[in-house]
Amino acid sequence: MAKDVAEKQSPEHVAIIMDGNGRWAQQRGRPRLFGHHAGAKRVREIVSACPEIGVKYVTIFAFSTENWKRTQTEVAGLMRLFQRYIQREAQDLLDNGVCVRFIGDRVKLDSKLVTMMDNLELSTAHNTRVHLTIALNYGGRDEVTRAAQRLAYEVEQGRLSYKDVDAETLAKFLDTHVLPDPDLVIRTSGEARISNFLLWQSAYAEYEFVDTLWPDFTAEEFAEIVARFGTRERRFGAVAV
Ligand code: IPE
Ligand code: IPE
Ligand code: MG
Repeated sequence: MAKDVAEKQSPEHVAIIMDGNGRWAQQRGRPRLFGHHAGAKRVREIVSACPEIGVKYVTIFAFSTENWKRTQTEVAGLMRLFQRYIQREAQDLLDNGVCVRFIGDRVKLDSKLVTMMDNLELSTAHNTRVHLTIALNYGGRDEVTRAAQRLAYEVEQGRLSYKDVDAETLAKFLDTHVLPDPDLVIRTSGEARISNFLLWQSAYAEYEFVDTLWPDFTAEEFAEIVARFGTRERRFGAVAV
């Protein structure tokens, strides 16, 4: 285990629950969407900081399967914001070596947005400097349920036996099948819960809950958290030596 700690100074994969946009706007007497726009602007700085601090994969929670419960105005505003984000950032992401992926259920999303997501994934697929995954209409339970459904279908079709269903096989049916598990999950805004984010994948992740509201989260704070991760001892169920 000591060897593991020494080798893993930087987390390879950091997942972030970007929370607190609404409260940030409220504190300024502005509508919630103002906070979401400010929050979207932080993403660029955080992604750019990754190579220098040794983070290869960064996954951000942009919209959960439960966020449809918000007002129609907020949901529609967020959906427009996602389109605008892709339009504005696509070229920069491409030029900066960022490989972009989306996880979550696309069925409920507007077809224009889905086309933009597909195009961004295709155009950046060859990039390898940083892997940015955006969780959009994502829920951990929904993802595992969809994976179970597809597995069941394979069994029904006779392409797979129920005996082949183990953790490794199930993971291949998850949206994240090409990604390593997150080593570190950060949540901003002071809430200490995971709100249905990467349930399966975070089984052994380290967690950091910070009070900063997402629109105030800086690359410096990100780097500090990542540095703190290097001092943690991960045991994965074994006894420390
Ligand atoms: C996170 O900020 C962004 C999304 C969930 C889309 P919130 O909108 O949840 O902000 P708070 O938690 O209300 O402050
Ligand atoms: C989690 O934040 C989802 C995203 C950051 C996209 P929420 O604000 O939706 O979570 P709860 O409702 O406080 O648990
Ligand atoms: Mg919130």
